[in-house]
Amino acid sequence: MSAAAPLENIVLIGFMGTGKSSIGRLLAAKLGFQLLDTDHLIVQRAGMEIPEIFASHGEAHFRDLETAALESLRARSRCIIATGGGVVVRDANRALLRELGFVVALSANEEVIFERVSRNSRRPLLQTEDPRATVQRLLAERRPLYAEAAQLTVDTSHLTHAQIAGEIIEKAAAVFSWQDAA
Ligand code: S3P
Repeated sequence: MSAAAPLENIVLIGFMGTGKSSIGRLLAAKLGFQLLDTDHLIVQRAGMEIPEIFASHGEAHFRDLETAALESLRARSRCIIATGGGVVVRDANRALLRELGFVVALSANEEVIFERVSRNSRRPLLQTEDPRATVQRLLAERRPLYAEAAQLTVDTSHLTHAQIAGEIIEKAAAVFSWQDAA
């Protein structure tokens, strides 16, 4: 097993709307792994939905809860860990992601992302006067951070879910020395 991936988890990172939750569900089903989602853990533990956490306590508090959620997963193995789009913003989180397993970034072009995130209004960071400009700015800030944290990046813009999952499983099989995957 590679020293860079001590635990047999696949950690999904990427901007809002890149498909982390859907791909996470598919990977978990295909591999028989448990699906864990840091946003869900935060909501469960805080007893509040994400927009409420941002509104009542601010983004910095949400980021603290996000770091705590990652730290709580250190003993887990054979999990798919889906994360929120801003998890890479903190330096400490990027190191933690690597400790947790094989880190895969899902990417997509700006048009695809904007089209996908426009379908719901649950994301507090995009409740701005010009959500398109916000997406553009956050993408510019975060792209280098996803690239730095990830061991594999898959552009999801023009691939089916099955193709994306297949590529991730193929690479994970090599990283974890699985004999019979895919
Ligand atoms: C965020 C992304 C969200 C959620 C929160 C903050 C971000 O997760 O963690 O609203 O900073 O990009 P998704 O990427 O699952 O939408």
